[in-house]
Amino acid sequence: MKTLEFVDGLNTGVRNIDDQHRSLVDMINILIKAQDGESCPETVSFILAEMGKYVYLHFRDEEQFMYDHGFAGLEEHRKVHFSFSEKVDEFTKLYDSGQTDLLIENLNFLSNWLLDHIQGDDQDMVRSILDN
Ligand SMILES: [Fe+2]
Repeated sequence: MKTLEFVDGLNTGVRNIDDQHRSLVDMINILIKAQDGESCPETVSFILAEMGKYVYLHFRDEEQFMYDHGFAGLEEHRKVHFSFSEKVDEFTKLYDSGQTDLLIENLNFLSNWLLDHIQGDDQDMVRSILDN
């Protein structure tokens, strides 16, 4: 699987959010490389768990940003975040239970979701806040 590239078009214009998105892309790339190489399952499992924690912190910060700016779409956006967090947890549990062959498919899902979310909901949200 090809690693992701954090291109300029993924920036939202909010430094903190963009830095965190870049870190998420980096973490997915570490998992892609770990999977392609021959990292032991414990290593992959550890990185998955770390990514889960980071996703939680990132969503919390992003939701705080929306709250601070009185963003009307906060609840809707929060639900989308929640369903992604659940996916990360589900994929981590599957991996930990020995279904390691699903990792690539699941990483594909997470990658596509993240890039779509950044270029859709996140950029729309920041634009609407900065335009006001
Ligand atoms: Fe978001």
